[in-house]
Amino acid sequence: MTKGKLYRIAGPVVVAKGLKARMYDVVLVGKEQLMGEVIQIDRDTATIQVYEDTAGIKPGEEVVNTGKPLTVTLGPGLLTSIYDGIQRPLPALQAQQGDFISRGATADGIDMKKKWKFTATKTKGDTVSGSSIVGEVEETEGNIHYIMVPPGVKETTIKKLTSGTYTVTDVIGELEDGTELKLAHEWPVRQARPVRRKLNPTVPLVTGQRVFDAFFPVVKGGAAAIPGPFGAGKTVSQQQLAKWSDADIIVYVGCGERGNEMTEVLTEFPHLTDPRSGKPLLNRTVLIANTSNMPVAAREASVYTGVTIAEYYRDMGYDVALMADSTSRWAEAMREISSRLEEMPGEEGYPAYLATRLSEFYERAARAVPLGTDREGSVTIIGAVSPPGGDFSEPVTQNTLRVTKTFWALDSKLAQRRHFPSVNWLTSYSLYQDNLEEWYAENVAKDWRETVERLQRMLQEEEKLMEIVQLVGSDSLPEKQQLTLEATRLVREFVLQQNAFHEIDTYSSLEKTYILMRMILHFYDQAQQAMDKGVRMTQILSMKSKDEIGNAKFEKDYKKLLTEVGERMEKELAALAR
Ligand SMILES: Nc1ncnc2c1ncn2[C@@H]1O[C@H](COP(=O)(O)OP(=O)(O)OP(=O)(O)O)[C@@H](O)[C@H]1O
Ligand SMILES: [Mg+2]
Repeated sequence: MTKGKLYRIAGPVVVAKGLKARMYDVVLVGKEQLMGEVIQIDRDTATIQVYEDTAGIKPGEEVVNTGKPLTVTLGPGLLTSIYDGIQRPLPALQAQQGDFISRGATADGIDMKKKWKFTATKTKGDTVSGSSIVGEVEETEGNIHYIMVPPGVKETTIKKLTSGTYTVTDVIGELEDGTELKLAHEWPVRQARPVRRKLNPTVPLVTGQRVFDAFFPVVKGGAAAIPGPFGAGKTVSQQQLAKWSDADIIVYVGCGERGNEMTEVLTEFPHLTDPRSGKPLLNRTVLIANTSNMPVAAREASVYTGVTIAEYYRDMGYDVALMADSTSRWAEAMREISSRLEEMPGEEGYPAYLATRLSEFYERAARAVPLGTDREGSVTIIGAVSPPGGDFSEPVTQNTLRVTKTFWALDSKLAQRRHFPSVNWLTSYSLYQDNLEEWYAENVAKDWRETVERLQRMLQEEEKLMEIVQLVGSDSLPEKQQLTLEATRLVREFVLQQNAFHEIDTYSSLEKTYILMRMILHFYDQAQQAMDKGVRMTQILSMKSKDEIGNAKFEKDYKKLLTEVGERMEKELAALAR
C-alpha cells in the first residue's frame, strides 16, 4: 500500500501526487476512504475517478493505493442480491445507514457469515485446473451453484477436499500446488473471464415476445440493442426480457436511470414469480441499481460488475442474459470524466475511445465451452440506448449497432399510437436469422422462416401501398391490394402488438406465435381465392371470423379457440362464395 496526497478535486475526478500506482488500481480517497480507480498516470501524478460523491473533500487529504484492481466477489449468495455499482448490497447498506447511504460505507459483496451446504463432486487425486468444477451448493431453491477452482490455476491435483457446511471464507480443500479452495473467489471486473472455446451461436434466446422471437431474434450468446426515444418502451421491454426469456440466470443492470424507474424494478422484482419454476424470480436474478443520483463514475463499474457476474455463471454452464438500462448513461459518464481530464473530445463531446469501450463490453457476450465443464454456457447482452431526441445517428447508437447483431428500433410514433412493443418492423433487424433457421425448423415448425419472411414481405408491401393511399385514398386501390392492407393490419395488431400488462398476452410461446401467423396467412390465402371467384372486398371486410383471430392472444386455450375460428372462417367464406 502506498500513500499520496490529494492535490486537486474536480467533481468525480481527483488528482493525487506522490502515489505509486498502476492503471486501474483501486484507491481509497480522503478521510472517508471513498473508493476510486486510477485512470491516468503522469509521473508522480495519478488521476482517479471516484465512485462516490466527492463534495467537501479537500486537497491535502490522504489517498491510499490498495494495489489491487476493481474486483467482484464471486460465490454463492450473488443470486437474489441487489447491488450498487461497486457490489455493495443496497439492503445491507440501508440497514446500516438508513435511507441516506453515507459515503465511504462498506459492506461485503456476499454474506460472509452465511453457511452453505457444500457437496464435493471431485476427490483427492483428481486432476483439476482453473475453472474446474469441484462441487456444488444449492444457492437458491432449485438453483445449483457450481464451485470452481479459481481461473488461472495450472493443471494440478486435489490434495484435500471435504463436503460439509461452510461460509464463503472457510477453506474447503487444497490443491497440490498449494492453492486453497473456497466457495468464493475474486475476479477483476475489467478482464473478461477466459473460456476454452467460443462457439457459433445457433440457439435463440426465446423471449416470449412475438416481435422479437419471430421477426428479430437474438441468439443465446449474442448481443442486441434497444434504442428508443424517451418513453418508447425500453424499460418495459428489458423487464419483459428479464421476466420471460428462457435464460437460466438474469443480471439486470439499471445504469443511471431515474431513481423512480429503478424503484419500480426494486419493489416489483422481489414479488415476481418465475413462470418456469413457480418460485420467486429473484431466485435466479442479480440486480445492480445505479441510479441517476448516484455518482457518475460508478456507472461504468456497474456495467463491468454486471458482465463479470454474468460470465461467472456462464462458466458453470448456464445461459445468462444481461440487461443494461441504459448504456447511454454510461456513455454520458465517460463523456463527463473525459472532459474533466481535458481529453481531446470526439464526436458530440464523447471521448475517442467510446467505440472501443462499447465493443469491448458487447464482445463479452458469447456462447462458449467454459474451462471448467463440458457443458456449454452463454452470456447474452441486451443494451438499451437512449438517443437524445430519438435521433439514431448519434454516436452511442451508431457505435452500438456496429457491434450488436440484433437491432430493436423503438419508434415514438408507434408508441404514441399505443402500438406496443413499439418496435419498428421496417428499420429493425437481426443478423442471426441464418444461424437460427435450423433450430426453428426443428423445434417449432419446418416452415417457420418461410412464414416469417412472407409476413415481412407483406409488411413491406403495406408500406408502399400506404404511400399511394395517402395520395389517392384506399378506395382507388385494386381490391386485391385492399385485401393485403387488411391482412397486414391483422399482422400488426395480432402478431406485432403485444400487451406486456395482460396476464396472458404478456408471454407468447413460439408455438402460439407460429399458429397466429399461420392463421392470418390462411385467411389471406382463402380470401384471395374467394375474390378470384367473384367475392367482393366489402364482403371480406364484413367477415367476423378474421377479427376473432386476435382473441387468441388473450386466451389460455388458444388452440381450441383458433380451431373454432378456422371452422367459422371456412363457413363464412363458403357462404360468400355462394
Ligand atoms: N409492451 C408494452 N405493453 C404495454 N405497454 C407498454 C409496453 N411497452 C411500453 N408500454 C407503455 O409505455 C410506457 C413507457 O415505457 P418505458 O418506461 O419502458 O419507456 P422508456 O423507453 O424506458 O422511457 P424512458 O426514456 O423514460 O426511460 C409504459 O409505462 C407503458 O405504459
Ligand atoms: Mg426507461
